[in-house]
Amino acid sequence: MRYTCYMLISSRLPSVCCLFTLCLFLILSFLSSVAGVPRIYTHTTMIVAYALRQSRFIFAAIFILIFLVSLQRTFLPNINPSPQLSLYSSSTPYDPNIPSSLPSVPANTTANSTLGFGAILAVSAATSKRRAGLLWAANLTAIEIVIPEQPVWTDEDLEAFRKKEGSRIDRGSALAWLGHLNALKWFLGSGLETALVMEDDADWDIALRTSQVFLAASALRSLLPSHPNYWANTSSWELLHLGHGPENIDSNLFHRIHSHPYMNYTDSSIPLPTSLDSSTSDLLHNLAVPASTRLWHRSYWPLGSYAYAVTRASATKLLTHYSTEKTVAFDVALLEACRDRNWDCWTLEPGLVNEFKVPSEIATVNAGGDVGNENIGELDEDMEMTVNIRCGMRQPGFWVEESDVQGRKEMIERAGMGLCPVRVETNE
Ligand SMILES: *[C@@H]1O[C@H](CO)[C@@H](O)[C@H](O)[C@H]1NC(C)=O
Ligand SMILES: *[C@@H]1O[C@H](CO)[C@@H](O)[C@H](O)[C@H]1NC(C)=O
Ligand SMILES: *[C@@H]1O[C@H](CO)[C@@H](O)[C@H](O)[C@H]1NC(C)=O
Ligand SMILES: *[C@@H]1O[C@H](CO)[C@@H](O)[C@H](O)[C@H]1NC(C)=O
Ligand SMILES: *[C@@H]1O[C@H](CO)[C@@H](O)[C@H](O)[C@H]1NC(C)=O
Repeated sequence: MRYTCYMLISSRLPSVCCLFTLCLFLILSFLSSVAGVPRIYTHTTMIVAYALRQSRFIFAAIFILIFLVSLQRTFLPNINPSPQLSLYSSSTPYDPNIPSSLPSVPANTTANSTLGFGAILAVSAATSKRRAGLLWAANLTAIEIVIPEQPVWTDEDLEAFRKKEGSRIDRGSALAWLGHLNALKWFLGSGLETALVMEDDADWDIALRTSQVFLAASALRSLLPSHPNYWANTSSWELLHLGHGPENIDSNLFHRIHSHPYMNYTDSSIPLPTSLDSSTSDLLHNLAVPASTRLWHRSYWPLGSYAYAVTRASATKLLTHYSTEKTVAFDVALLEACRDRNWDCWTLEPGLVNEFKVPSEIATVNAGGDVGNENIGELDEDMEMTVNIRCGMRQPGFWVEESDVQGRKEMIERAGMGLCPVRVETNE
């Protein structure tokens, strides 16, 4: 209610009413001055003239009232910024002094709303408390995410999935694995050519759609046999790891990476080397990759399935070979496919997507907890920023309650202008 009043006052309505009343007032004044000296004195004309003269004052009063309201509105935001009316009701309010305007990018680098893939799929259980945050982040970035509905997995489903003997997978990881398989089945059913699969704790930079994806896809197109597809020739890759954990750094690293084609390119949206995760900066340093540079390389140790792309062929292969327990977790299965079975896997380093550190659903399930009833808005104050992401869309500063329609609209505008709620050190 308070919100409706605020909207009413802050809209253009009072000015319009004001003008309207003023016009009525003038017309009535004119009419009554005419009617005041009627040529034919009848009973009716006397009454009309009287009524007109009285209503003049009523309209004058309404006019003054509305005028005062619109006057107050002009000063309202300065005099009385009532906290209830604050447009940013998240626990860490949007501070207009803090945000940094990130370097603008040419409009022609913006990827389409599915980032050049057929679809972006999220693996998320219906009860996941992380879903609201994921969808809001997608909305802020103007990307479309589909969450294939998951069946409620029964004990029979789990039993069928597990190894009959020597099962080593815990319940949470098994459920997550079934979730990935479910997303891959959705993808094959859709008839689309490619899909990017994410987990629902995925976080990414504000420039993901406006510049990062364009640069990454252009680099991949020059790395792999050329083809009109946005993400290069889909017959020449099986998995693209766009969000993953660190590669294994060992004495063979340089040789392993450089014995296959690789591609580096400049991307100013990478955090400064000092802000990168130490294993990532060590890796890049060991490979002599300069600052502000991303590297596409053949995957060797792509642990962590925060975001990976599949083709129809590779999704089919995954569903054929990995539809039951093969190892301790789905991301380990992907790692083994790339590392030990020579699948055509490519890794982008640093990745574009990383894991937002909310309490892991796998851990919650394993601890016997229910994941349904926690409020996504209540985020830990001292929560860490997402690793290797400059301005993460999941950070609390971006969060606006779902009920705050106007607040959400304004935040989408801010995000669209590249405004980050925290100060970001850039390379420029
Ligand atoms: C984007 O536009 C700029 C300036 O108009 C041009 O120099 C650049 O080549 C364009 N890039 C692409 C990918 O079209
Ligand atoms: C985005 O581009 C890809 C590749 O060209 C295409 O397959 C997909 O349908 C596009 N998505 C939308 C929403 O247009
Ligand atoms: C953002 O969310 C609103 C409300 O749910 C929806 O109307 C709008 O299309 C969404 N925008 C994008 C880019 O998904
Ligand atoms: C795509 O890649 C496959 C496998 O590397 C190759 O056989 C095919 O010729 C490529 N297509 C194009 C158009 O380059
Ligand atoms: C790619 O890496 C090499 C050194 O490994 C460097 O000389 C070159 O400038 C890099 N290219 C880009 C675009 O950063």
